[in-house]
Amino acid sequence: MEIIVSKDYEEMSRKAAELAADSIRENPESLVSFPAGDTPLGMFHAFTDMVNAGTVDISKARYVSLDEWIGLSHQDKGSCGLFLDENLIGRLKKPFAETHIIDGAAADMENERQLLDRFIETHGPLEVSVLGIGMNGHLGFNEDGVDFELSAHIIPLSETTKQVMTKYFGDQFHPEFGLSQGISQIMAAKKVILIANGPHKAEIIGRAVKGEITNKVPASVLQSHPNCYVVVDQAAAAKL
Ligand code: GLP
Repeated sequence: MEIIVSKDYEEMSRKAAELAADSIRENPESLVSFPAGDTPLGMFHAFTDMVNAGTVDISKARYVSLDEWIGLSHQDKGSCGLFLDENLIGRLKKPFAETHIIDGAAADMENERQLLDRFIETHGPLEVSVLGIGMNGHLGFNEDGVDFELSAHIIPLSETTKQVMTKYFGDQFHPEFGLSQGISQIMAAKKVILIANGPHKAEIIGRAVKGEITNKVPASVLQSHPNCYVVVDQAAAAKL
């Protein structure tokens, strides 16, 4: 793991965007995956600014969703899909060659899961996977206790995730399940970039980076990835 401690959120966002852009420069036909959540907002803006300024060409690259709350379509407030539309896809002056966004409101979620697997099988492996980290160490919706061998799967949300999710939905919506890329797909990525900011992430970043590798802290698996960057601000680096 290469740990990059940035002085603040803006610098963390810029560094993560640069690392992702480098992958696409090396392989213009990259398959890339970025997370939703609060953490990547600045990175999305830095990345889309680069694309719009012409310093990275995504016209041959593909984008695939990391995860989605089951029950929400990408028109629904709080969905990962809407966040991606508003802050990544919708800000791009030149689009990706193709995007695969999970529909969390599909009538047949098993089919939706298979579509995610198939897209990654067809166009993968991921060239670069950018990830946030949940308060329990989850990656996407690979919750504590997840089987590291799984590919895309539907998973019950942990109690920690259910508590945290009120920041996205208030009391409007109470999802019970998520659909997520699996750890095996994340670990197959040629480059992984884990981003985190703020003092509330310090404890879990410490456990993920310095603790035992265990599925009780899913992000700890990244210690065994051959090309993983952990890009954090100073507050999130407090326990490193
Ligand atoms: C969410 C998502 C993850 C995200 C993580 C951290 O529940 N499932 O993909 O990376 O939790 O979110 P945030 O960046 O808002 O802290």
